[in-house]
Amino acid sequence: MTHKKLIAGNWKMNGDLALALTLTREIVAGVERDPALLQRCDFLICPPLVHLARVRANLGATPLVMLGAQDCSAHAGPGAFTGDVSASMLEDCGVGAVILGHSERRTLNHETSALVAQKAACALDRGLTAVICVGESETEREQGAHFDVVARQISESLHKVENTENIVVAYEPVWAIGTGKAATPDDVQAMHEFIRTKVGNSRILYGGSVKPENAGQLLNLPNVDGALIGGASLKAESYLGIAKAV
Ligand code: PGA
Repeated sequence: MTHKKLIAGNWKMNGDLALALTLTREIVAGVERDPALLQRCDFLICPPLVHLARVRANLGATPLVMLGAQDCSAHAGPGAFTGDVSASMLEDCGVGAVILGHSERRTLNHETSALVAQKAACALDRGLTAVICVGESETEREQGAHFDVVARQISESLHKVENTENIVVAYEPVWAIGTGKAATPDDVQAMHEFIRTKVGNSRILYGGSVKPENAGQLLNLPNVDGALIGGASLKAESYLGIAKAV
């Protein structure tokens, strides 16, 4: 089965409310202007948590663009988990997907695959799509350990998942994130083929310095079902430019 490409924007901790609403408006207008895009791609934007409700209100009653969060609690709740936001709260807010285990959270917040697995279970339980990020560091690639690292992250992050229907795996080599240096098409193809053997029919996204200039090369490879986009998702023109390259 071939999927429509998923064009997922990870806005990270960028932008005030005004920027979030402007970007949302521009993206929706761009998608509406070009219906052919919707035939080839699904669209997902993941604004900062505090902007989710307002962005959702601006997406309209039958959104062409899906709303995602960048993280959720590992606890189903409700309860005494100060600072956490549960999958059920996200669902209530109109969120349809959540990014989990992004390398920035694995590194800066010391998140383990075991924790990601708990979060994924909570997300799936609420009917959210869990976008699970995996990827090796530069050193691990230099040591030739990239396949082993990714295999371990996948098995540990997905071990609670029985049905992979609502799972998306994002392969994001850490050395390619925010560096302007995307992985080569050969490397992407080899890794995605490998991941396919682990996750069946789930969508597999590539992430790491995707931009309109390299999107055609990367997104049209076999087993690449879309992109997780950081920097280039903060401008409607480049975000939509990536979809246009499909
Ligand atoms: P980038 O980020 O596109 O800025 O490299 C990708 C990501 O972190 O998801």
